[in-house]
Amino acid sequence: MTTVASSASRAAEILARPVALNGLTVPNRIAMAPMTRMFSPGGVPGEDVRSYYARRAAAGVGLIVTEGTYVGHDSAGQSDRVPRFHGEEQLAGWARVADAVHAAGGTIVPQLWHIGMVRKQGQPPFAEAPAVGPSGLRIDGTEGTGRAMTQEDLDDVIGAFAEAAAAAERAGFDGVELHGAHGYLVDQFLWAGTNRRTDAYGGDPVSRTRFAAEIAAAVRANVSADFPVIFRFSQWKQEAYDARLAETPEQLEAILAPLAAAGVDAFHASTRRYWLPEFEGSDLNLAGWTKKITGKPTITVGSVGLDGDFIGAFMGEGSPVQGLDNLLDRMERDEFDMVAVGRALLQDPEWAAKVLAGRFDELKPYDAASLKSLS
Ligand SMILES: Cc1cc2nc3c(=O)[nH]c(=O)nc-3n(C[C@H](O)[C@H](O)[C@H](O)COP(=O)(O)O)c2cc1C
Repeated sequence: MTTVASSASRAAEILARPVALNGLTVPNRIAMAPMTRMFSPGGVPGEDVRSYYARRAAAGVGLIVTEGTYVGHDSAGQSDRVPRFHGEEQLAGWARVADAVHAAGGTIVPQLWHIGMVRKQGQPPFAEAPAVGPSGLRIDGTEGTGRAMTQEDLDDVIGAFAEAAAAAERAGFDGVELHGAHGYLVDQFLWAGTNRRTDAYGGDPVSRTRFAAEIAAAVRANVSADFPVIFRFSQWKQEAYDARLAETPEQLEAILAPLAAAGVDAFHASTRRYWLPEFEGSDLNLAGWTKKITGKPTITVGSVGLDGDFIGAFMGEGSPVQGLDNLLDRMERDEFDMVAVGRALLQDPEWAAKVLAGRFDELKPYDAASLKSLS
């Protein structure tokens, strides 16, 4: 896993193929992974955010998945520097981002986000609202200062996601990604550790998926039939790396099947290292299993082009470059359809252009200092 060399023509052949996500044709197989950057004061993505994404589209990223952006619900977030996907100024800022990415030849979807019980303290405009979640439990099992969601809360949040998706289509985006991963609100429902409900939204995996599926169905109903809806999920949680939603392919199917039935067009299976097998007895990773189970296009992610995993990035750790042969082998076998790249693209806006042209010796190691600016 340490060689950097990979045949230039092979990388181009495999990665430069267009791929369809419902009605959208993405020009190649490279996606930018969603990465919170906190450079949007007042929740408004400005000129610097616009050029940050446009630079990467101009350098060959086929699909930008934006950083998580809060849906219009009082408890959705906690930082005033994270972009919001509601409000006139905020949506006008986002429309300019989408225009710039299109002008650069790329496609773009916003990642719609509600943080649920992860919320610790709020800044205005979130200061007053309580944290909410399926059972008022934080990832570590403590109660914190939040509360369990009422049916009215559930309906409000479902409506907020649906409204944000419609706003995305109006603003010229190419689809939406629903953030169902990493221990945030939607994932708090999926995971038994945080979902102790005894009503229709808790219990077995299918019941725990009900909230996510209702969001997906409401989003589907609020956008055009060919507008792609992507669902991102993970086994791991931000504050519990060893947590798992599914121990077996059957359990995974119990979660994914209702989502596909609700209108999800593609899945983004978030792992920290894409080369690790997900279940015993097979080499398939989580995206590979997801494609096998649902038949839907899937996106893989996790330490692509880098040796160290991204958790270290939050502790200031860098990472050396890693070769792409394992990834290309898997893509050649159609194990999954797209690859999302996080830190390598955060570090180097030219990453996709270099890979597509086989300029592997120009790939840069990741340096956590790159988090400090939007270059
Ligand atoms: C600075 C930073 C911010 C992130 N923010 C988000 C986010 O808003 N939404 C999300 O789903 N994942 C987020 N992630 C996870 C990435 O999308 C990706 O899954 C992870 O970095 C692994 O990919 P990599 O190894 O290529 O960096 C973030 C990662 C980093 C490094």
